[in-house]
Amino acid sequence: MAIVAVVFHSASGTTEKLADSVMSGAASLKGVDVLKVEIFGSDIVEGRYQNQDVLDSLDSVDAIIFGSPTYMGSVSAQFKAFADATGDKWSEKAWSDKIAGGFTIGSNLSGDQLMTTQYFQIFANQHGMIWASLDIPGGCDPEGRNRLGAQSGLIAHSKDNILNKIDLVTAKYLGLRIAKLAIRYSINEI
Ligand SMILES: Cc1cc2nc3c(=O)[nH]c(=O)nc-3n(C[C@H](O)[C@H](O)[C@H](O)COP(=O)(O)O)c2cc1C
Repeated sequence: MAIVAVVFHSASGTTEKLADSVMSGAASLKGVDVLKVEIFGSDIVEGRYQNQDVLDSLDSVDAIIFGSPTYMGSVSAQFKAFADATGDKWSEKAWSDKIAGGFTIGSNLSGDQLMTTQYFQIFANQHGMIWASLDIPGGCDPEGRNRLGAQSGLIAHSKDNILNKIDLVTAKYLGLRIAKLAIRYSINEI
């Protein structure tokens, strides 16, 4: 059994809808369990993320897919507070060799969402994780998936909080892809 965790922050719900699609893609693969981990602002006290149980729950998973809205050209403050709380995990190499991927959404078509996926990638690499890109060639997919053409992860766009169906389909594919990789590199017994 491989375990895929989706760790995300969402204030108005669009990132959560993407997270649910990512999870459904991962869960569609036999032998995969999914773990939904929402980052709540109430777990942040004086700027510090303090939910140690959540952090510890990620030690035993095979893959972590990160999600955040793009805020001011990067991850949200809530996501960054979570990331900053992983320093002990970093020093222990607790998440080393796990598969990682990421997704984001913004209200502008070119609202610097790429910075968010690049942040996820650097964050994963800080932990020694193995970054999984989005392997749907933008503009070349018969189903039109990856419509915004980012290859580092899923970039989505909505100007009215209504999700584009293609973005949801792409999110599902990203979950499936990372689940397949998690099975291939699983550290748990299958
Ligand atoms: C403080 C703030 C900063 C934002 N910055 C950006 C941005 O840099 N680029 C962009 O495209 N959208 C930006 N947005 C729009 C959000 O990314 C967008 O509404 C997203 O769907 C919110 O995700 P959520 O529904 O999961 O909270 C920003 C929104 C807020 C509230």
